[in-house]
Amino acid sequence: MAIEAATVQETFKLMQAKLSKLIPDVELRIKAELVYEINRRKKERGAIILGHNYMEAALYHTVADVVGDSLELSRKAAETDADPIIFCGVRFMAETAKILNPNKTVLLPAKVAGCSLASSITAEDVRQLKKQHPGVPVVSYINTYADVKAESDYICTSGNAARLVQSINSDSIIFLPDEFLASNVAQETGKKILFPKKGEPVPSGPVMIGWRGRCEVHEQFSVEDIQNIRKQFPEVKVLAHPECSPEVVAASDYSQSTSRMVDFVKNSQAPHFLLLTECSMADNIIAENPDKDVLRLCSIRCPHMNEITLEDTLNCLVNNETVIEVPEDIRVRAKTALDRMLAVR
Ligand code: 13P
Ligand code: SF4
Repeated sequence: MAIEAATVQETFKLMQAKLSKLIPDVELRIKAELVYEINRRKKERGAIILGHNYMEAALYHTVADVVGDSLELSRKAAETDADPIIFCGVRFMAETAKILNPNKTVLLPAKVAGCSLASSITAEDVRQLKKQHPGVPVVSYINTYADVKAESDYICTSGNAARLVQSINSDSIIFLPDEFLASNVAQETGKKILFPKKGEPVPSGPVMIGWRGRCEVHEQFSVEDIQNIRKQFPEVKVLAHPECSPEVVAASDYSQSTSRMVDFVKNSQAPHFLLLTECSMADNIIAENPDKDVLRLCSIRCPHMNEITLEDTLNCLVNNETVIEVPEDIRVRAKTALDRMLAVR
């Protein structure tokens, strides 16, 4: 949560109390100046900063007013009265906030901040799939751009994907674009996952038609990684994000959205944890729970989330960079699909 401090020195002291295990003092002193300035200007402008769980610890614990997973941040974006909304996350998340808040300024502290899943599929790809499978409802993962959302009937996140699929009254469902998330949700909801070629018939019955998109971070984790860690730490609890392969999810102890992984570590008494997800999240958990032993298997950062820095967040507040816009015809259709998601509890 954002630091409340009257001076840079006080900001530094508060940052030191939380982050000294992770960040050396010399770096904290420089960052404290940025944090103080961001929080001051944020107040002055009546802005809110939403921060995804993957933000680096020096930003996540200091300037974000609300932190969370994609679903929680979408809900917050739908509720907030603040203007502008500064989204410390990737572009598709900031776009989602804009779709829900057309009259507010939504700012992304980066020029690109993409996502390998979002760039794996185009709106034209979705139109082709709908032509090939007429009448089959389309569920798109929130990790897609606005034009793809506009072609979809429903949006889901890792936190509600299975619940959303179960809420749809149709045996067959097109689920885009994450191959692994689709396979994991199919498994959880008792559907068969298929990746049919163009013109290939799809059997009747409970099926999910997928797309071969992947998260470039989560596809890197393997069953072998888990086996090696279990050999060294037999009591370890392994948590895998549902963007990991079905084999990795099957070999782990728990698989849910980033925020539910955070909760799991907080509430479990296990002696060690292994998180198969973006690495900054482990730092963020350690800062809040210094007594927990979170094992370091990885140094895998999402290069897109990593684009968001304190320097760019300050620049965003000062120079309004980068303003997120979504064409109105796309926004309205994308919002319908998003609203259906937000209605599922
Ligand atoms: P969550 O919705 O679980 O936070 O995931 C977002 C994401 O991009 C994971 O890679
Ligand atoms: Fe996209 Fe993967 Fe990065 Fe999440 S971690 S933003 S899914 S590339």
